[in-house]
Parts: sequence; C-alpha cells; structure tokens
Amino acid sequence: MRVRHKKHGAERLERCGELLITSPEELDFVPYGLEIGCGKGAFISGLAKSDPGHMYVAVEIVRDVAVVAAEKIMASKDGDSPINNVRFIVTGAERLEGWIKPGSIERIYINHPDPWPRPGHMKRRLTYARYLHMYWRFLAPDGEIWFKTDSRPLFDFSLRSFAENGFKVRDVTYDLEHSEYFGDDIVTEYEASFMAKGQPIHRCVAAKDPDYLPPETEEQFVTIGLPRKEDSGS
Ligand SMILES: C[S@@+](CC[C@H](N)C(=O)[O-])C[C@H]1O[C@@H](n2cnc3c(N)ncnc32)[C@H](O)[C@@H]1O
Repeated sequence: MRVRHKKHGAERLERCGELLITSPEELDFVPYGLEIGCGKGAFISGLAKSDPGHMYVAVEIVRDVAVVAAEKIMASKDGDSPINNVRFIVTGAERLEGWIKPGSIERIYINHPDPWPRPGHMKRRLTYARYLHMYWRFLAPDGEIWFKTDSRPLFDFSLRSFAENGFKVRDVTYDLEHSEYFGDDIVTEYEASFMAKGQPIHRCVAAKDPDYLPPETEEQFVTIGLPRKEDSGS
C-alpha cells in the first residue's frame, strides 16, 4: 500500500488513544476476532457494526494507515450507531507472539495482504508457514482464518500452505463476487478497487485442525514454493 506521510500522524493517533492497545498487558479481554493488515478500516468497522456483541482487534503495521482506520471508529461515536467493539494494535503481525492467549481466538481475517510475488520474499507473505503456526496457536480448537486476495499466485500458495501447516481448507471460490459467499461479504478498500476493475477475488476459509502436531523448529516447516536444489542447478 502506497502511503502518503500523514501530517501530524502521531498526534492524530494519540487522539484515538482509547482505541489503542500498546502492550500485551493492556489487552485485558479475549477478542473474538483479529484482522491482520486492516488498512484504512472499512472491513473492521463493517464487521464490528454487524456484530456488536463481540470484541475485535485490528492489527496494522503502518501508523499512518492505522490512524485512518482508528479515526473511522472514533467518528462513529458521534453518530447514530457508535462502534464500541474495536481496538487497534499498531505493529507487524510477526510481533504478536505473546500478545494473544493461545487457543483463544475464534476468527482471524486476512484481507488482500501484500502478495510478495518474488520467491526471495516468500517468508513475508502473511500465509507463510511461520505466520500460520502462530495463528494456529492463537486460534480456539474450532477457530478459522478467513482469507481473501486478488492475487491468484498468492491464493494458490496459501491454499497449499494452509493444508500443509495445520488447517483444513473449505468454502473456496475463485470469484467471490459471483459466488454464494458474496452475500455476507464485507468489502474492503482494496477489494472495492479490484472489483471496480473487474478483477476476481479469491476467497477461502481455513479451519484449524486441532489434531495437527506443529513442528518444533522453523527448519521443520513445510516451505512451499522455495526453489528446490535441483531447480537452482546447485
Ligand atoms: C494491500 S493492503 C490491504 C489493506 C486492507 N486489508 C484491504 O483489503 O483494503 C495490506 C495492508 O497490510 C498491512 N501490512 C503489511 N504487512 C503487515 C504486517 N506484517 N503486519 C500487519 N500489517 C501489515 C499494510 O500496511 C497494508 O495496510
């Protein structure tokens, strides 16, 4: 996401202080759902509005993007339907270990993450094995990841990554807008722009397999898409 530096971004975020969780100790409730990479907040505000009985936490690595999302929630508080069930963590998903109680979260939403198409950047994909193992630990036994992307290579990679790292994949569609799942869909900022250009959205649910035995070290992860030795000629 290209981000223009926001004037007074830090001060603006400070004005949204009541929504921010700035340390693991401050997270004194169990969120029902987590959105990773919430962008400017269209999805999390829509979700929270549609489900006021559950608490949601949105995670966003870029402060100047998070501030736009947080201001959306703050602005709702002056309106007819104030949103009171969203908090934000402004950090990278890779730093969430230790923040979330293991086995506690029902849903993780990952919407249109950066595709990181180059093989050398594979480990940065939010559906790479290391992230999936962290999500697996956070999720309750019947917990699920709801995943959407416009990138077919990322989607194909992710389907395999889910299946090989402790998740059972279901409700797969390669064209969300024309599928049975679109009725319940909350459209994100990126999704709206992809759909306006006629690009299909790929979507699936990855359900935690509670019987999966996670590997003990990163070396044992299944690393889909890494070039094999014979491919590299070495
Ligand atoms: C392509 S945008 C999609 C934004 C939004 N989900 C949507 O669909 O409109 C990806 C977002 O993920 C955020 N992001 C990228 N890497 C992240 C990470 N490791 N942890 C948390 N957020 C991340 C980016 O800053 C950006 O806001």
